Amino acid sequence: MKSIDEVDIRDKTLFIRVDFNVPLDRNRNITDDARIRAVLPTINYCLDENAKIVLGSHLGRPKNGPDENLSLAPVARRLSRLIHKRVKFAPECVGPETQKIIKAMKPGDVVLLENLRFHPGEVKNDPEFAQQLMQGIDIYVNDAFAVAHRAHASVAAVTHYAPICVAGFLMRDEVRYFHRSMEDPARPLVALIGGAKISSKLTALVNLLNHVDKLIVGGAMANTFLKAQGYQVGKSLVDDNLIDAAKKLMATALEKGVKFYLPVDCVVADAFDSRAETKITPVQEVPENWVIADIGPATVTLFNEALQNAKTVVWNGPMGAFEIDAFSRGTQAMVHNVANSFALTIVGGGDTDVAIHKTGELQKFSYISTGGGAFLELLEGKQLPGIVALQEWHKQHPDA
Ligand code: 3PG
Repeated sequence: MKSIDEVDIRDKTLFIRVDFNVPLDRNRNITDDARIRAVLPTINYCLDENAKIVLGSHLGRPKNGPDENLSLAPVARRLSRLIHKRVKFAPECVGPETQKIIKAMKPGDVVLLENLRFHPGEVKNDPEFAQQLMQGIDIYVNDAFAVAHRAHASVAAVTHYAPICVAGFLMRDEVRYFHRSMEDPARPLVALIGGAKISSKLTALVNLLNHVDKLIVGGAMANTFLKAQGYQVGKSLVDDNLIDAAKKLMATALEKGVKFYLPVDCVVADAFDSRAETKITPVQEVPENWVIADIGPATVTLFNEALQNAKTVVWNGPMGAFEIDAFSRGTQAMVHNVANSFALTIVGGGDTDVAIHKTGELQKFSYISTGGGAFLELLEGKQLPGIVALQEWHKQHPDA
Protein backbone atom coordinates (compact mmCIF):
# COMPACT_ATOMS: atom_id res chain seq x y z
CA MET A 1 0.00 0.00 0.00
CA LYS A 2 1.07 3.57 -0.61
CA SER A 3 1.76 5.98 2.21
CA ILE A 4 0.84 9.60 2.56
CA ASP A 5 4.25 10.95 1.56
CA GLU A 6 3.95 9.27 -1.85
CA VAL A 7 1.03 11.41 -3.05
CA ASP A 8 0.57 15.14 -3.48
CA ILE A 9 -1.53 16.38 -0.57
CA ARG A 10 -0.77 20.10 -0.85
CA ASP A 11 -3.96 22.17 -0.41
CA LYS A 12 -6.06 18.99 -0.66
CA THR A 13 -8.92 18.03 1.67
CA LEU A 14 -7.93 14.89 3.60
CA PHE A 15 -10.07 12.58 5.69
CA ILE A 16 -7.73 10.92 8.18
CA ARG A 17 -9.17 7.90 10.01
CA VAL A 18 -7.46 7.94 13.40
CA ASP A 19 -7.97 5.86 16.53
CA PHE A 20 -8.66 8.36 19.30
CA ASN A 21 -10.27 5.64 21.43
CA VAL A 22 -8.57 7.01 24.54
CA PRO A 23 -9.35 6.21 28.18
CA LEU A 24 -11.45 8.83 29.99
CA ASP A 25 -12.10 9.20 33.72
CA ARG A 26 -15.60 9.81 35.06
CA ASN A 27 -15.27 13.57 34.49
CA ARG A 28 -14.35 12.86 30.86
CA ASN A 29 -10.71 13.82 31.31
CA ILE A 30 -8.30 11.95 29.07
CA THR A 31 -6.11 9.77 31.29
CA ASP A 32 -3.67 8.66 28.58
CA ASP A 33 -3.21 10.53 25.30
CA ALA A 34 -0.67 8.12 23.75
CA ARG A 35 -3.03 7.29 20.87
CA ILE A 36 -3.43 10.97 20.04
CA ARG A 37 0.33 11.56 20.15
CA ALA A 38 0.88 8.53 17.94
CA VAL A 39 -0.75 10.27 14.94
CA LEU A 40 0.96 13.64 15.42
CA PRO A 41 3.65 12.82 12.80
CA THR A 42 0.90 12.40 10.19
CA ILE A 43 -1.06 15.46 11.30
CA ASN A 44 2.04 17.67 11.49
CA TYR A 45 3.16 16.51 8.06
CA CYS A 46 -0.27 17.44 6.64
CA LEU A 47 -0.06 20.84 8.33
CA ASP A 48 3.38 21.43 6.80
CA GLU A 49 1.88 20.57 3.42
CA ASN A 50 -0.97 23.04 3.94
CA ALA A 51 -3.62 20.35 3.61
CA LYS A 52 -7.15 20.68 5.01
CA ILE A 53 -7.46 17.99 7.66
CA VAL A 54 -10.70 16.25 8.59
CA LEU A 55 -10.19 13.72 11.38
CA GLY A 56 -12.60 10.85 12.07
CA SER A 57 -12.49 8.40 14.98
CA HIS A 58 -14.59 6.22 17.22
CA LEU A 59 -14.57 6.36 21.00
CA GLY A 60 -15.88 3.43 23.03
CA ARG A 61 -18.80 1.32 21.91
CA PRO A 62 -21.95 3.48 21.98
CA LYS A 63 -25.04 1.26 21.90
CA ASN A 64 -27.90 3.49 20.76
CA GLY A 65 -26.62 6.47 18.85
CA PRO A 66 -25.17 9.61 20.43
CA ASP A 67 -23.99 9.39 24.04
CA GLU A 68 -22.46 12.52 25.52
CA ASN A 69 -20.13 10.43 27.70
CA LEU A 70 -18.51 9.16 24.52
CA SER A 71 -18.24 12.48 22.71
CA LEU A 72 -14.89 13.29 21.11
CA ALA A 73 -15.12 16.94 22.23
CA PRO A 74 -12.45 16.47 24.98
CA VAL A 75 -10.14 14.97 22.36
CA ALA A 76 -10.51 18.06 20.14
CA ARG A 77 -9.36 20.21 23.09
CA ARG A 78 -6.38 17.95 23.86
CA LEU A 79 -5.36 17.82 20.22
CA SER A 80 -5.51 21.63 19.99
CA ARG A 81 -3.00 21.80 22.84
CA LEU A 82 -0.74 19.19 21.26
CA ILE A 83 -0.56 20.84 17.84
CA HIS A 84 -0.75 24.45 19.15
CA LYS A 85 -3.61 25.15 16.83
CA ARG A 86 -7.39 25.42 17.09
CA VAL A 87 -9.12 22.16 16.22
CA LYS A 88 -12.69 22.79 15.18
CA PHE A 89 -15.15 20.22 16.49
CA ALA A 90 -17.96 19.12 14.16
CA PRO A 91 -20.87 17.96 16.35
CA GLU A 92 -22.05 15.47 13.70
CA CYS A 93 -19.83 13.19 11.64
CA VAL A 94 -21.95 13.59 8.46
CA GLY A 95 -24.82 15.78 7.26
CA PRO A 96 -25.40 19.28 5.89
CA GLU A 97 -23.85 21.14 8.87
CA THR A 98 -20.68 19.06 8.63
CA GLN A 99 -20.52 19.61 4.88
CA LYS A 100 -20.77 23.33 5.49
CA ILE A 101 -17.85 23.15 7.93
CA ILE A 102 -15.73 21.12 5.49
CA LYS A 103 -16.49 23.41 2.55
CA ALA A 104 -15.46 26.46 4.60
CA MET A 105 -12.05 24.94 5.54
CA LYS A 106 -8.87 26.74 4.53
CA PRO A 107 -5.47 25.11 3.99
CA GLY A 108 -4.00 24.24 7.39
CA ASP A 109 -7.41 23.98 9.11
CA VAL A 110 -8.12 20.97 11.30
CA VAL A 111 -11.62 19.60 11.99
CA LEU A 112 -12.41 16.67 14.27
CA LEU A 113 -15.73 14.94 13.57
CA GLU A 114 -17.94 13.63 16.37
CA ASN A 115 -17.70 9.91 17.24
CA LEU A 116 -18.26 7.91 14.04
CA ARG A 117 -19.99 5.13 16.00
CA PHE A 118 -22.83 7.51 16.91
CA HIS A 119 -23.98 6.75 13.37
CA PRO A 120 -25.38 3.22 12.88
CA GLY A 121 -23.76 2.97 9.44
CA GLU A 122 -20.25 2.90 10.88
CA VAL A 123 -20.19 -0.57 12.45
CA LYS A 124 -22.40 -1.94 9.66
CA ASN A 125 -19.78 -0.99 7.09
CA ASP A 126 -22.65 0.77 5.33
CA PRO A 127 -21.70 1.96 1.82
CA GLU A 128 -24.11 4.89 1.95
CA PHE A 129 -22.56 6.18 5.18
CA ALA A 130 -19.07 5.63 3.76
CA GLN A 131 -20.05 7.67 0.70
CA GLN A 132 -21.36 10.47 2.91
CA LEU A 133 -18.07 10.50 4.86
CA MET A 134 -16.12 10.89 1.63
CA GLN A 135 -18.20 13.81 0.34
CA GLY A 136 -15.89 16.72 -0.46
CA ILE A 137 -12.77 14.62 0.35
CA ASP A 138 -9.81 14.42 -2.06
CA ILE A 139 -7.68 11.85 -0.21
CA TYR A 140 -8.52 9.20 2.39
CA VAL A 141 -5.74 8.45 4.87
CA ASN A 142 -5.94 5.48 7.20
CA ASP A 143 -3.76 6.05 10.26
CA ALA A 144 -5.86 3.95 12.64
CA PHE A 145 -3.99 0.66 12.98
CA ALA A 146 -5.70 -0.10 16.30
CA VAL A 147 -9.08 -0.41 14.57
CA ALA A 148 -7.81 -2.02 11.35
CA HIS A 149 -9.31 -5.36 12.43
CA ARG A 150 -12.84 -3.92 12.21
CA ALA A 151 -14.65 -4.00 8.86
CA HIS A 152 -16.33 -0.68 9.61
CA ALA A 153 -17.41 2.00 7.13
CA SER A 154 -14.62 4.49 7.88
CA VAL A 155 -12.03 1.70 7.81
CA ALA A 156 -13.13 -0.47 4.89
CA ALA A 157 -16.13 0.71 2.78
CA VAL A 158 -14.78 4.27 2.40
CA THR A 159 -12.02 3.05 0.10
CA HIS A 160 -14.69 2.50 -2.59
CA TYR A 161 -15.65 6.18 -2.55
CA ALA A 162 -12.40 8.09 -1.99
CA PRO A 163 -10.51 9.36 -5.06
CA ILE A 164 -7.15 8.36 -3.48
CA CYS A 165 -6.45 6.05 -0.50
CA VAL A 166 -3.17 5.93 1.42
CA ALA A 167 -1.75 4.86 4.79
CA GLY A 168 -0.62 7.42 7.36
CA PHE A 169 2.81 7.19 8.99
CA LEU A 170 1.55 5.30 12.05
CA MET A 171 -0.20 2.68 9.93
CA ARG A 172 2.86 2.40 7.70
CA ASP A 173 5.18 1.88 10.70
CA GLU A 174 2.89 -0.62 12.41
CA VAL A 175 2.77 -2.75 9.26
CA ARG A 176 6.53 -2.43 8.67
CA TYR A 177 7.46 -3.44 12.19
CA PHE A 178 5.08 -6.34 12.15
CA HIS A 179 6.57 -7.51 8.87
CA ARG A 180 10.08 -7.22 10.31
CA SER A 181 9.08 -9.23 13.35
CA MET A 182 6.97 -12.03 11.90
CA GLU A 183 7.36 -12.31 8.16
CA ASP A 184 11.01 -11.51 7.65
CA PRO A 185 12.60 -11.58 11.10
CA ALA A 186 16.21 -11.63 12.16
CA ARG A 187 16.55 -14.98 13.95
CA PRO A 188 16.28 -16.38 16.54
CA LEU A 189 12.74 -14.98 16.81
CA VAL A 190 11.30 -15.33 20.31
CA ALA A 191 7.66 -14.72 21.27
CA LEU A 192 6.82 -13.95 24.88
CA ILE A 193 3.10 -14.41 25.45
CA GLY A 194 1.25 -13.80 28.68
CA GLY A 195 -2.15 -12.69 29.90
CA ALA A 196 -5.01 -14.28 31.73
CA LYS A 197 -6.94 -16.45 29.33
CA ILE A 198 -5.49 -19.07 27.04
CA SER A 199 -8.82 -19.05 25.14
CA SER A 200 -8.22 -15.50 23.88
CA LYS A 201 -4.73 -16.31 22.59
CA LEU A 202 -4.85 -19.95 21.53
CA THR A 203 -5.16 -19.13 17.82
CA ALA A 204 -2.23 -16.72 18.13
CA LEU A 205 -0.10 -19.36 19.91
CA VAL A 206 -0.88 -21.95 17.22
CA ASN A 207 0.03 -19.50 14.45
CA LEU A 208 3.19 -18.39 16.25
CA LEU A 209 4.50 -21.95 16.07
CA ASN A 210 4.78 -21.45 12.29
CA HIS A 211 7.07 -18.45 12.74
CA VAL A 212 9.07 -18.46 15.97
CA ASP A 213 12.18 -20.28 17.14
CA LYS A 214 11.19 -20.08 20.80
CA LEU A 215 7.82 -19.62 22.46
CA ILE A 216 7.72 -18.45 26.07
CA VAL A 217 4.38 -18.60 27.89
CA GLY A 218 3.75 -16.82 31.19
CA GLY A 219 0.78 -15.21 32.93
CA ALA A 220 -2.30 -17.09 34.07
CA MET A 221 -2.59 -18.76 30.67
CA ALA A 222 0.50 -20.81 31.57
CA ASN A 223 -1.58 -22.52 34.29
CA THR A 224 -3.52 -24.51 31.68
CA PHE A 225 -0.25 -25.75 30.18
CA LEU A 226 1.09 -26.64 33.64
CA LYS A 227 -2.07 -28.59 34.41
CA ALA A 228 -1.80 -30.29 31.02
CA GLN A 229 1.66 -31.43 32.08
CA GLY A 230 0.16 -33.00 35.19
CA TYR A 231 0.94 -30.35 37.82
CA GLN A 232 -1.57 -29.39 40.50
CA VAL A 233 -2.21 -25.66 40.25
CA GLY A 234 -4.44 -25.21 43.31
CA LYS A 235 -7.28 -22.71 42.76
CA SER A 236 -5.49 -20.96 39.91
CA LEU A 237 -7.36 -19.84 36.81
CA VAL A 238 -7.37 -22.79 34.40
CA ASP A 239 -9.29 -23.32 31.18
CA ASP A 240 -10.18 -26.99 31.67
CA ASN A 241 -11.78 -27.19 28.21
CA LEU A 242 -8.46 -26.35 26.64
CA ILE A 243 -6.20 -28.86 28.40
CA ASP A 244 -6.17 -31.09 25.31
CA ALA A 245 -5.51 -28.10 23.06
CA ALA A 246 -2.59 -27.14 25.34
CA LYS A 247 -1.18 -30.68 25.10
CA LYS A 248 -1.52 -30.61 21.33
CA LEU A 249 0.20 -27.25 21.11
CA MET A 250 3.16 -28.50 23.14
CA ALA A 251 3.39 -31.61 20.94
CA THR A 252 3.31 -29.44 17.80
CA ALA A 253 6.07 -27.24 19.22
CA LEU A 254 8.19 -30.35 19.73
CA GLU A 255 7.46 -31.59 16.21
CA LYS A 256 8.34 -28.26 14.67
CA GLY A 257 11.49 -27.86 16.74
CA VAL A 258 10.17 -24.73 18.48
CA LYS A 259 11.62 -24.45 21.98
CA PHE A 260 8.76 -24.06 24.41
CA TYR A 261 9.20 -22.45 27.84
CA LEU A 262 6.83 -22.46 30.81
CA PRO A 263 7.27 -21.12 34.35
CA VAL A 264 9.28 -23.29 36.72
CA ASP A 265 8.34 -21.40 39.86
CA CYS A 266 5.63 -18.95 40.80
CA VAL A 267 4.35 -16.46 43.33
CA VAL A 268 1.31 -18.02 44.96
CA ALA A 269 -1.25 -16.24 47.13
CA ASP A 270 -4.07 -17.36 49.39
CA ALA A 271 -6.30 -14.79 47.60
CA PHE A 272 -6.18 -12.36 44.68
CA ASP A 273 -5.78 -9.44 47.01
CA SER A 274 -3.04 -6.93 47.84
CA ARG A 275 -3.21 -8.06 51.49
CA ALA A 276 -3.08 -11.78 50.71
CA GLU A 277 -0.43 -14.06 52.15
CA THR A 278 2.09 -14.89 49.43
CA LYS A 279 5.09 -17.16 48.91
CA ILE A 280 7.31 -18.43 46.15
CA THR A 281 7.09 -22.11 45.22
CA PRO A 282 8.27 -24.42 42.45
CA VAL A 283 5.39 -25.21 40.07
CA GLN A 284 5.44 -28.75 41.53
CA GLU A 285 4.40 -27.42 44.96
CA VAL A 286 1.47 -25.06 44.50
CA PRO A 287 -0.64 -25.39 47.69
CA GLU A 288 -4.11 -26.81 47.23
CA ASN A 289 -6.22 -23.73 47.95
CA TRP A 290 -3.84 -21.08 46.67
CA VAL A 291 -3.62 -19.28 43.34
CA ILE A 292 -0.68 -18.65 41.05
CA ALA A 293 -0.44 -14.84 40.73
CA ASP A 294 2.93 -14.20 39.09
CA ILE A 295 6.02 -15.92 37.73
CA GLY A 296 8.77 -16.52 40.26
CA PRO A 297 12.47 -15.47 40.27
CA ALA A 298 13.78 -18.76 38.82
CA THR A 299 11.34 -18.35 35.91
CA VAL A 300 12.53 -14.79 35.33
CA THR A 301 16.08 -16.16 35.08
CA LEU A 302 15.00 -18.98 32.76
CA PHE A 303 13.00 -16.66 30.48
CA ASN A 304 15.85 -14.17 30.45
CA GLU A 305 18.29 -16.87 29.41
CA ALA A 306 15.93 -17.91 26.63
CA LEU A 307 16.03 -14.30 25.40
CA GLN A 308 19.83 -14.03 25.46
CA ASN A 309 20.58 -14.92 21.83
CA ALA A 310 17.32 -13.49 20.43
CA LYS A 311 17.55 -11.15 17.46
CA THR A 312 13.82 -10.41 17.42
CA VAL A 313 11.40 -10.46 20.35
CA VAL A 314 7.62 -10.11 20.07
CA TRP A 315 5.81 -9.61 23.37
CA ASN A 316 2.13 -9.67 24.15
CA GLY A 317 0.57 -9.99 27.62
CA PRO A 318 1.75 -9.60 31.23
CA MET A 319 3.40 -12.36 33.27
CA GLY A 320 1.05 -12.10 36.27
CA ALA A 321 -1.64 -10.00 37.92
CA PHE A 322 0.63 -6.96 37.61
CA GLU A 323 -2.11 -4.47 38.53
CA ILE A 324 -1.59 -5.60 42.14
CA ASP A 325 1.90 -4.50 43.26
CA ALA A 326 2.63 -7.73 45.12
CA PHE A 327 2.17 -9.67 41.85
CA SER A 328 3.88 -7.28 39.48
CA ARG A 329 7.54 -8.21 39.96
CA GLY A 330 7.65 -10.90 37.28
CA THR A 331 6.21 -8.60 34.63
CA GLN A 332 8.46 -5.74 35.75
CA ALA A 333 11.53 -7.96 35.56
CA MET A 334 10.58 -9.08 32.05
CA VAL A 335 10.02 -5.46 30.97
CA HIS A 336 13.55 -4.77 32.14
CA ASN A 337 14.99 -7.88 30.45
CA VAL A 338 13.27 -7.31 27.11
CA ALA A 339 14.05 -3.57 27.22
CA ASN A 340 17.75 -4.30 27.67
CA SER A 341 17.98 -7.05 25.10
CA PHE A 342 19.96 -6.35 21.92
CA ALA A 343 17.11 -7.72 19.82
CA LEU A 344 14.54 -5.83 17.81
CA THR A 345 11.75 -5.67 20.40
CA ILE A 346 8.12 -5.30 19.43
CA VAL A 347 5.31 -5.08 21.93
CA GLY A 348 1.57 -5.17 21.35
CA GLY A 349 -1.48 -5.29 23.56
CA GLY A 350 -3.05 -2.84 25.96
CA ASP A 351 -2.01 -4.51 29.23
CA THR A 352 1.62 -4.99 28.22
CA ASP A 353 1.85 -1.31 27.27
CA VAL A 354 0.44 -0.30 30.66
CA ALA A 355 3.06 -2.45 32.42
CA ILE A 356 5.85 -0.90 30.34
CA HIS A 357 4.62 2.64 30.99
CA LYS A 358 4.71 1.87 34.73
CA THR A 359 8.40 0.95 34.65
CA GLY A 360 9.55 4.01 32.68
CA GLU A 361 11.59 1.88 30.21
CA LEU A 362 9.38 2.71 27.25
CA GLN A 363 12.11 4.35 25.18
CA LYS A 364 14.23 1.21 25.21
CA PHE A 365 11.78 -0.82 23.11
CA SER A 366 12.13 -0.81 19.33
CA TYR A 367 8.40 -0.49 18.75
CA ILE A 368 5.27 -0.43 20.89
CA SER A 369 2.18 -1.08 18.83
CA THR A 370 -0.93 1.04 19.39
CA GLY A 371 -3.08 -2.00 18.60
CA GLY A 372 -4.54 -4.38 21.16
CA GLY A 373 -7.10 -6.49 19.27
CA ALA A 374 -5.58 -5.56 15.90
CA PHE A 375 -2.08 -6.67 16.99
CA LEU A 376 -3.45 -9.94 18.33
CA GLU A 377 -5.27 -10.65 15.06
CA LEU A 378 -2.01 -10.13 13.18
CA LEU A 379 -0.37 -12.62 15.55
CA GLU A 380 -3.21 -15.00 14.71
CA GLY A 381 -2.22 -14.75 11.06
CA LYS A 382 -5.39 -12.92 10.03
CA GLN A 383 -5.73 -10.32 7.31
CA LEU A 384 -7.00 -7.04 8.75
CA PRO A 385 -9.87 -5.41 6.78
CA GLY A 386 -8.35 -1.93 7.14
CA ILE A 387 -5.04 -3.04 5.62
CA VAL A 388 -6.67 -5.22 2.96
CA ALA A 389 -8.87 -2.27 1.87
CA LEU A 390 -5.80 -0.08 1.28
CA GLN A 391 -3.97 -2.87 -0.54
CA GLU A 392 -6.98 -3.62 -2.74
CA TRP A 393 -7.34 0.03 -3.63
CA HIS A 394 -3.74 0.10 -4.80
CA LYS A 395 -4.12 -3.07 -6.80
CA GLN A 396 -7.02 -1.46 -8.61
CA HIS A 397 -5.23 1.89 -9.09
CA PRO A 398 -1.61 0.93 -9.82
CA ASP A 399 -0.83 4.28 -11.40
CA ALA A 400 -2.34 6.50 -8.73
C1 3PG B 1 -9.14 -0.70 20.52
O1 3PG B 1 -9.18 0.00 21.54
O2 3PG B 1 -8.63 -1.85 20.52
C2 3PG B 1 -9.62 -0.12 19.22
O3 3PG B 1 -9.90 1.23 19.34
C3 3PG B 1 -10.82 -0.87 18.70
O4 3PG B 1 -11.90 -0.71 19.56
P1 3PG B 1 -13.11 -1.76 19.53
O5 3PG B 1 -12.60 -3.03 20.13
O6 3PG B 1 -14.21 -1.11 20.32
O7 3PG B 1 -13.48 -1.96 18.08
